Amino acid sequence: MFDPKTYCVVVVGAQWGDEGKGKLVDVLAEKVDLVVRYQGGANAGHTVVTGESQFILQQIPSGILHPRVTCLVGNGVVLDPETFFTELDGLVARGIDPKGRLFVSERAHLVMPYHKLLDRASEKSQNIGTTGRGIGPTYEDKYGRRGIRVGDLRHLETARGLLRERVERANQLLGLMGVAERADLGAHFELVARLAPRLVPLAVDTGLVVHRGLREGRRVLLEGAQGALLDVDHGTYPFVTSSNTTAGGAAVGAGIGPTAIDGVLGVVKAYTTRVGNGPLPTEATDGMGEELRRLGGEFGAVTGRPRRCGWFDATVVRYSVRVNGLTGLAVTKLDVLDSFPEIPVGTDYVLDGHACGEMPADVRVLERVKPHYEVLPGWRKPTTGARRLADLPPQARAYLDRLEDLSGAPIRYVSVGTRRDQIIEV
Ligand code: IMP
Repeated sequence: MFDPKTYCVVVVGAQWGDEGKGKLVDVLAEKVDLVVRYQGGANAGHTVVTGESQFILQQIPSGILHPRVTCLVGNGVVLDPETFFTELDGLVARGIDPKGRLFVSERAHLVMPYHKLLDRASEKSQNIGTTGRGIGPTYEDKYGRRGIRVGDLRHLETARGLLRERVERANQLLGLMGVAERADLGAHFELVARLAPRLVPLAVDTGLVVHRGLREGRRVLLEGAQGALLDVDHGTYPFVTSSNTTAGGAAVGAGIGPTAIDGVLGVVKAYTTRVGNGPLPTEATDGMGEELRRLGGEFGAVTGRPRRCGWFDATVVRYSVRVNGLTGLAVTKLDVLDSFPEIPVGTDYVLDGHACGEMPADVRVLERVKPHYEVLPGWRKPTTGARRLADLPPQARAYLDRLEDLSGAPIRYVSVGTRRDQIIEV
């Protein structure tokens, strides 16, 4: 993705999240100076396998595993300070040194315990199947202009005033929701007083850091979380997360202009998964879904929930190519399909006997569409040892060619396993 004219690249999930962005970011981070998270929060779970070790990163950019990379948590992220430091301490305990190379935007909004209480108590969240990490309520407060930002912790008295008001409001809402649990103001004061001395020294204008970096010729990777179909504007609303997961959100959430971005890599699984509720047109309900889940180890990295599994949905990825402006695709988990004699690919949707062509905006319509499948021959050989495209069985290459044709963006990477070396650069 990086060449002498490409300095700033966004990596996004192009389906419903869990496509393996963490792994791609980890591999690409070898070539960059800065990695920036730009939206979402502790709802994300970016899994990276290095040698014998596995890391699951929720809020810290996946670039942290490379000692010379500076990592930034951008203004578009909602930061849960408690889990952020737990994650950080966990990394330090495993020999990662983040000193002097991990910073947080002073403009990022804070996820407080009352946000998590509200998320878990809300019937709406339960219908959507949220991760319960307080993401929706924190973004609601941000856009309702009653959020608390990282920079607010510089003045503890002001932060306490804000907390007093917000906790009271949250408790009123909890009362209206009919739940007995209440947020404890004293515990919020204690939390903020305890964490502010650690967080404030990390608080900077991250947009300025990225801007200066690019001006000095440094390479920047903007690391998306979740996937395009979970975008609050472009996803399967209301079964979405509360941020702009698509590439447009990268400029806003990292604090740079859109013209600074040179390329967008969309990560897709060779099949489709979704965790949480909402339509999933190519879901395999005939035992094959179970098989995909078993072979792919498809359980949520954050919540452990089983992921719903199905076949590659080209309507979704075509749409994703358009709304993200994807300049390349990374196809992950090709090896999970190694044993299937035949592999269906959803090429289009059919609604009341007519081809849809495009992604419907209305979930009620999406729930009614029937995918049109093309069945491709499987390869029934292991691909995990392939290191070049030429090492793949011809049927696997034909499968990838078909995905590329249907999606409308070139495949730049193919991954055939969890390890760093199991990635093919096309
Ligand atoms: P929230 O982001 O916790 O509010 O959850 C909203 C929806 O997005 C739910 O369906 C979640 O399962 C889904 N979601 C949130 N984060 C991720 C992720 O990192 N991977 C996959 N799904 C996610």
